[in-house]
Amino acid sequence: MDRRQFLLGTAGAGALAAGGYGLWRAADGERAGAGPVELRVRETSYRFGADRPETAGLVSLADGAPPPVLRLKQGQPAHLRLVNGLTDYTTMHWHGIRLPNAMDGVPYLTQFPVGEGEAFDYLFTPPDAGTYWYHPHCMTMRQMAQGLTGILVVEEAEDMGFDADVPLNLKDFRLGDDGQLLPYFTPRGAARGGTLGNVLTTNWQVSPVEDVPAGGLVRLRLAATDTARIYQLVLPDVPGRIIAWDGHPVREEVPWPTADAPLALSPGQRVDVALRMPDADGIELAVVARLGFGQQDMVRLRTVGASLGRDMREVPVLPANPLPVPDLAKAEMQELVFGWTPDGSGADNGLCGNFGYSFWSIDRTPWPGDAVEGVGPVATLKLGRSYVLRLRNESPNAHPIHLHGLVFTPLRSNRRTLPANPTDTVLLQRNEVIDVALVADNPGDWAFHCHVIEHQKTGLAGYVRVV
Ligand code: C2O
Ligand code: CU
Ligand code: CU
Repeated sequence: MDRRQFLLGTAGAGALAAGGYGLWRAADGERAGAGPVELRVRETSYRFGADRPETAGLVSLADGAPPPVLRLKQGQPAHLRLVNGLTDYTTMHWHGIRLPNAMDGVPYLTQFPVGEGEAFDYLFTPPDAGTYWYHPHCMTMRQMAQGLTGILVVEEAEDMGFDADVPLNLKDFRLGDDGQLLPYFTPRGAARGGTLGNVLTTNWQVSPVEDVPAGGLVRLRLAATDTARIYQLVLPDVPGRIIAWDGHPVREEVPWPTADAPLALSPGQRVDVALRMPDADGIELAVVARLGFGQQDMVRLRTVGASLGRDMREVPVLPANPLPVPDLAKAEMQELVFGWTPDGSGADNGLCGNFGYSFWSIDRTPWPGDAVEGVGPVATLKLGRSYVLRLRNESPNAHPIHLHGLVFTPLRSNRRTLPANPTDTVLLQRNEVIDVALVADNPGDWAFHCHVIEHQKTGLAGYVRVV
């Protein structure tokens, strides 16, 4: 099958009736007219602080600015046209969105890589409201390290009545003293927990201040889009509640994180928080990341104006998303083992941009190369059936395990109590075994991998087939 046949053969699956595109552009806050909305991937430079030199060689969808927050509406068709302004290949993936397989943005699995000057139309109707994100799935390590990660908000059909909505994209950069990007990965990091950055940013800023209404109800949308860091977050000591986890309204309470028990937000995960701000003007409250040594304010929320006098009881119960319900009585169990590469071999690995060596594997088989011909799925699921996947970590490192196109719910862990909230990315701690339940309700080949990108690129990747 050549490239043209491939695209003709699969693009139709995501096609939608024209017209009525419900896209909001965060840049101007105005409803975009009929699609497509163009997203042009480009190289740019940016200053991460007044005291820092300008950093060249970043990648964004805007000049001299981070990738914008994209806003879609639940149940309304979107048409996003990716235009590749790089000399490198790319694709775009819509992390956590349940969409047609052909729109999923995974090179060779669902589409060909998009070359220099080429475009790809992504058409889908997001079925679920919530906080999602986007990133390339080709040359992933490089382009994400260069900054190409953004928040994708799918707004509820009805306005939820918050006084402020604050998307917070948490991401590290690895910069040298000269302010320029350091190598994106290291074999040492790839074989362990991943290579951490040294400049922790929120929306590409270090400890930014966000003005929010005094006495108001604020919705924070925190997204961990770094390639390696598991953020340990502490939320301010004001009335508040965790209202959504990985996009979906929580069903079981997630404990409010404190200095003693911070919230672990691992690469790929999102959390939505409702806060009731203090009544006085000019008060600053921080969302703090605890680090190995010390801590950093990831954002400072500053109250402005006269108190709106809101009450936590006015925080709405977010409407449930239309998720399928697994039938546990009939669910078949399949086990997947995450561990080292069995022979420690240096086989080519990673989809679209390989490192040339492997450390990791699923079911003792490292992801073998750029093309997927001849590479079988790690699991084959029957469309419409329920399954329990037993995710077994045989390694001493943590792995945020992510599945495309489907939502799953943790049932139990051998190490801790896990709230049974639907998700697309679960953090598998060292030597942990987690059972998750899902309904295989979306046909296609769905990428399944660790979201520590160095692990993904050195073997901890595969795909699940739903037929
Ligand atoms: Cu967030 Cu396969 O990706
Ligand atoms: Cu994804
Ligand atoms: Cu991993």
